[in-house]
Amino acid sequence: MKIELVTLPYASNALEPVISRQTIEFHHGKHLQTYVNNLNNLIQGTKFENAPLETIVKESEGAVFNNAGQVLNHNLYFTQFSPNGGDEPSGKLAAAINAEWGSLAGFQKEFEAAGVSLFGSGWVWLASDASGKLSITKEANAGNPVTKGLKPLLGFDVWEHSYYLDYQNRRADHLKALWAIVNWKVVESRY
Ligand SMILES: [Fe+2]
Repeated sequence: MKIELVTLPYASNALEPVISRQTIEFHHGKHLQTYVNNLNNLIQGTKFENAPLETIVKESEGAVFNNAGQVLNHNLYFTQFSPNGGDEPSGKLAAAINAEWGSLAGFQKEFEAAGVSLFGSGWVWLASDASGKLSITKEANAGNPVTKGLKPLLGFDVWEHSYYLDYQNRRADHLKALWAIVNWKVVESRY
């Protein structure tokens, strides 16, 4: 089963000014495409050749893990945004966020702080355990909460390739701006 490049559910300029067309085109069309190509080359003729992406991430290591993790991470990342985002979570996800952090604003503050304090490249995730309890996890490089038995709901990419063209070194400003394009309906559907 060939791993495919995920289709963006919006035009490449639709997330401006939060994420520029140029950043989307490099990030999706170059960086993610490279991870997809590398992964397809690496798994050819191996036990992972026909495995689902999440299985590869859970069971691999080294270069296969790095590329599979980055494909899974970016598939979740690119599909969680919308030019009409920035609303608020509802239903049981909203209740679980309030139970854990007191309010959406309380969660966002802690999530941004986790992303800012992650040293080097990686990801910050909102994740859920099997009982529905939420947590924020910091993952270095290609990490994803699925390797800890958690379900990833929302992920912010803190690799410089995700923000450097638009924000240079201002990672904190970038993370704060992303809330305006989060599609909470998609995040809720993952919960
Ligand atoms: Fe990225």
